Amino acid sequence: MPRASTAWGCGKRLWIKRDDLSGSTLTGNKVRKLEFIAGFAKTQGIDTLITCGGLQSNHARATANVCAKLGWHCELILRGRHPVSEGNTLLDQLFGAQVTAVEPRRYTEHLDALLEQRAAHHRSLGRRPLIIPTGGSNGLGIWGYVAGAEELVADMATADISSATIVTATGSGGTQAGLTLGMALFKPECPVWGVAVCDDKEYFTAKVTDDITEAQGIWSALACENIQINTNDAYVGPGYGRAAEPVYERIAALASLEGIVLDPVYTGKAFYGLCEELAQGAFPDATDIIFVHTGGIYGIFPHGQQLAAAASHPAPSVN
Ligand SMILES: Cc1ncc(COP(=O)(O)O)c(C=O)c1O
Repeated sequence: MPRASTAWGCGKRLWIKRDDLSGSTLTGNKVRKLEFIAGFAKTQGIDTLITCGGLQSNHARATANVCAKLGWHCELILRGRHPVSEGNTLLDQLFGAQVTAVEPRRYTEHLDALLEQRAAHHRSLGRRPLIIPTGGSNGLGIWGYVAGAEELVADMATADISSATIVTATGSGGTQAGLTLGMALFKPECPVWGVAVCDDKEYFTAKVTDDITEAQGIWSALACENIQINTNDAYVGPGYGRAAEPVYERIAALASLEGIVLDPVYTGKAFYGLCEELAQGAFPDATDIIFVHTGGIYGIFPHGQQLAAAASHPAPSVN
């Protein structure tokens, strides 16, 4: 991203890995995880996927899309009071998913029981359901980003990048876990940083460790020593799903400088955090930074007003 490098790179080259281009409605990081989860489900004769997330969950939308492609049933338990037909929830409906919005407190306290109840209901109808955890982040899902890391190493060779720091948004931890394990296996000199959009560093250290341990339990060839888990939790801002004005402004500025759209819930927050860290002198030895664009475009629509206001501010001059 030559113009973004001039604006915010602080002397480093900023690159972007376009995982948002993995599909139009199946876009983003969740596709990589679902490739392995749905692949496994197929071998088990599964015909129904049940999953959960926020009302605008990209993972839920991608799961609904996968089910429609495979001719399976899809049930989504989403955290929120008022389901509106906008962004991802509109797509959930178009893909024919059964959507239940659950009041946030009840969701937090009873999610496992709710998922189990729905699975029992589908079994009573003679179906074979599989419950996928939040974000598809488990020992199987993260295989998608071990494969993603292998692909990224090949991309680096093509672009003549000998070493880089990899940065991604982290929400349920699976993308960070897969990339951390994959880079440790294929190019250990490249550190991976997750910029948290919710929760904190301690939470993600434990979650990423668990996911990696589970993945290694599935296939011992993924065993690897000296895995370094790096999480920056300084950019969560007002909380999950909410962003402060500078994040909206950074999204608008990047869109006008590079023609690349980030979202306020995940990628915009993480990219803003990356730029702020660079401005403070982070990664002093790195010459190249690769930001993994994990998708999320449909998440911009519920934030239209804030983004429109941000778009009226001029982008930094790079000439
Ligand atoms: C667009 C987008 N980027 C990043 C993330 C974070 O990925 P992960 O859940 O694997 O931490 C998510 C989902 O949570 C997402 O939807």
